[in-house]
Amino acid sequence: MSFRIQPAAPARPNRCQLFGPGSNTKLFAKMAASAADVINLDLEDSVAPSDKDAARANVIDALNTIDWNSKYMSVRINGLDTPYWYRDVVDLMEQAGDRIDQIMIPKVGCAADVYAVDALVTAIERAKGRTKPISFEVIIESAAGLAHVEEIAASSPRLQAMSLGAADFAASMGMQTTGIGGTQENYYMLHGDTRHFSDPWHWAQTAIVAACRTHGVLPVDGPFGDFSDDEGYIAQAKRSATLGMVGKWAIHPKQIALANEVFTPSEEAVAEAREILAAMETAKANGEGATVYKGRLVDIASIKQAEVIVAQSELIAAG
Ligand code: COA
Ligand code: MG
Repeated sequence: MSFRIQPAAPARPNRCQLFGPGSNTKLFAKMAASAADVINLDLEDSVAPSDKDAARANVIDALNTIDWNSKYMSVRINGLDTPYWYRDVVDLMEQAGDRIDQIMIPKVGCAADVYAVDALVTAIERAKGRTKPISFEVIIESAAGLAHVEEIAASSPRLQAMSLGAADFAASMGMQTTGIGGTQENYYMLHGDTRHFSDPWHWAQTAIVAACRTHGVLPVDGPFGDFSDDEGYIAQAKRSATLGMVGKWAIHPKQIALANEVFTPSEEAVAEAREILAAMETAKANGEGATVYKGRLVDIASIKQAEVIVAQSELIAAG
């Protein structure tokens, strides 16, 4: 490890973030009753411009009146290039009470975007005597966002999570696709006559995970648009989990169980991790730094890998 220790990310389950448009009030009670860890009430791109004011009022009312139980409550405000975002922040901070936990800032392109929202939020917190600090999450969904991902991850002590937004990211990058995440028909390698499909989101995901892990932020995979394709969702989520992401968005309730399944370490994985830790304890007692577990090398790095899985499973069990 470097002299600078890697900070821990917030210790709360974030396996599934369920989205719903702020304009669609009939979804709110269903969202509250769902098995998602995080709820994202949306004021941004799922709300038509003519509905912005009504959606904001709906969301404030829902935060104040619905029993959201232990859900981590986040509201996605409008982007900083719109005329709506300041009113989103002011009204939420002044009227949404203590039930709001987090503000999601979309289309962040540089650390100053987060700084601007932080300054406004901080001023309102002080003016109103709010004692519960509001956390932030951001979406990386533009070329600038990815180019500046590390400074964004370091931008504010309020920042707890960072998601990849595949659709806006693809548009900003000029990618030739209208899909939201998943396999892309034209992204393949040829081996003889066989097409091997690669993962066009891999670079963005790993860049986000590295920036997040450097600064103690939760890396999250964003939406998967085709909610009729469970297998496609699971495949995308498994790749994200393998790369170090802790959860994924759901844009339809049927995706919640899929995310929870993929991002909860399986009993077998936890059992194996505990066995590796036990094997390393024995090795340590014998004065060894490395040993053999099921025919393969395990060493001091394996302890840290196993601890990630055990810690994740204990966190979820406690939540
Ligand atoms: N949260 C909770 N419940 C939801 C839901 C959501 N996001 N989306 C749909 N449901 C409910 C429906 O109300 C319906 O309930 P019912 O059985 O009691 O009637 C049930 O789940 C099945 O819904 P379905 O008919 O398959 O979908 P739909 O046509 O009503 O809605 C979408 C489809 C995509 C428009 C809707 O899921 C949606 O608005 N998703 C969120 C979009 C969003 O927030 N985007 C921004 C982030 S990318
Ligand atoms: Mg977007």
